[in-house]
Amino acid sequence: MTGKFISIEGIEGAGKSTQLSFIESYLIKQGKQVVVTREPGGTGLGEALRELLLSPNYMGMSPDTELLLMFAARAEHIAQVIQPALAAEQWVICDRFVDATFAYQGGGRGIDIERIQTVSDWTLNELNTDLTLLFDLPVEIGQQRVIKRQQQKDRFEQEKTAFFTDIRQCYLNRAEQSAGRIQVIDASQSIEHIQCQVIKKLDVLLEQ
Ligand code: TMP
Repeated sequence: MTGKFISIEGIEGAGKSTQLSFIESYLIKQGKQVVVTREPGGTGLGEALRELLLSPNYMGMSPDTELLLMFAARAEHIAQVIQPALAAEQWVICDRFVDATFAYQGGGRGIDIERIQTVSDWTLNELNTDLTLLFDLPVEIGQQRVIKRQQQKDRFEQEKTAFFTDIRQCYLNRAEQSAGRIQVIDASQSIEHIQCQVIKKLDVLLEQ
């Protein structure tokens, strides 16, 4: 037996951090050993790559470079954190995983999905999430939330509305094609309503 692998996804401002803490405490209450991690990042090398990827110093980074750095961080993350945790029957909750690459580098940057699939097959080697929760909301609402944070915007957050509209659409298309692995949650609802939906999805996985 191995643990379960959950990722959470959504455009900027979808409320992933709040939901991540909620999911972690819910699973701990159910007696699970939980590892919380993130992409890009999750390892020393991955966090160093994250700094490069998010830094506004590299606004002109080529889409292929961006894609390969995302997968380099992911390869390290899988080898050092995700696989060992799953093998030890722990539950891994990851703030973003490969669906983000299809949405951001595919939908956002316009890289051909087949090319992303090739690098993905090579890097993931059959690994994928058991459940991905996609927190979906209109781009404008997400952007208003990001503005309220009043932090310096990273390289992705500085992109225009159209970039995020394409990403959102790509996420939703992917959810439709995912045969249930990706579950969409309306993130514009009240927090209580969202958490109720999250519990329902987690309970299905807990019963498997
Ligand atoms: P975060 O701030 O939500 O943790 O994510 C960092 C940024 O990296 C976010 O704007 C989405 C982006 N990203 C990609 O473009 N491709 C990926 O594969 C991942 C994991 C994140």
